[in-house]
Amino acid sequence: MTAQVLVVGSANADLVVPADRRPGGGETVLGGDTRILPGGKGANTAVAAARLGADVALVGAVGADGHGKLLLESLRESGVRTDLVRTVDRPTGAAYITVTPDGENSILVSPGANHALAPADIDDVAGVTGGFAGVRVLVASMEIPLPTVEHVLVSAAAAGVRTVLNLSPVAELAAEALAVLDVLLVNEHEAAWLLGEDAADPARLLELGPRSAVVTRGAHGAVVVTRDGTTEVPSPRVKVVDTTGAGDAFAGALAHALAGGAGLAAAARTAAQVAAVSVTRTGAQPSYPTADELG
Ligand code: RIB
Ligand code: NA
Repeated sequence: MTAQVLVVGSANADLVVPADRRPGGGETVLGGDTRILPGGKGANTAVAAARLGADVALVGAVGADGHGKLLLESLRESGVRTDLVRTVDRPTGAAYITVTPDGENSILVSPGANHALAPADIDDVAGVTGGFAGVRVLVASMEIPLPTVEHVLVSAAAAGVRTVLNLSPVAELAAEALAVLDVLLVNEHEAAWLLGEDAADPARLLELGPRSAVVTRGAHGAVVVTRDGTTEVPSPRVKVVDTTGAGDAFAGALAHALAGGAGLAAAARTAAQVAAVSVTRTGAQPSYPTADELG
């Protein structure tokens, strides 16, 4: 089996609570009704790409519980292939999300089943897909064990597959994995963390090893860095309702465009449009547009 876009990453049930403000330590704040929505950076990325029409498979893990069922349903309804999503003996990952009236969110993640995704699973996939044959773009994200992320990047690159890493939440990745990376995708905060600077110079990300980098800047669009220079990509002006999963929408749309043969700057331009639509609606996966909606 092959898919043109192979996503490796987390699947979480998002337990979303609207609140006027976030509780501090030792404090109790009353919020609105809880909504349980499909999320997780890997599943979000896969759904975003599939809604746009990409042929996508997710490599991930869920538990044998209601949250796992919710995720598998959302993936399947969006057309993501789920035969590489393992059901394991741990609770499905959960994300406790507070959304304030300005559309800002804060997220506490309990990885659960996502932590069962081991490097050996990647070797199994490589076997199933015939060593990644037919895969045009591999996208990895975090919230799964770091060795698994590193292993999949190195394995895919060795098989000649183009690799994208959405390094979110940001973590220190082995130099060998960064060195084989085609596209490092981060937001401004993650870029600054990686470079140890207050306001990072995006071009310096290439010093870490990747061939190119994309830094997302929310309402300000994105910056694309290649060895040939830096390109700024705008973001359409929209009314922000919920920014949860906007970065994952960007990642999925970027992968879809790259798999279709677009250059990196053009792919980032489309991705910024898709991410902008996603922030106008509630939740992560439920907010991602189809190709038709983009017009
Ligand atoms: O990036 C957004 C995602 O982060 C949410 O869907 C939540 O599950 C956490 O993984
Ligand atoms: Na959204």
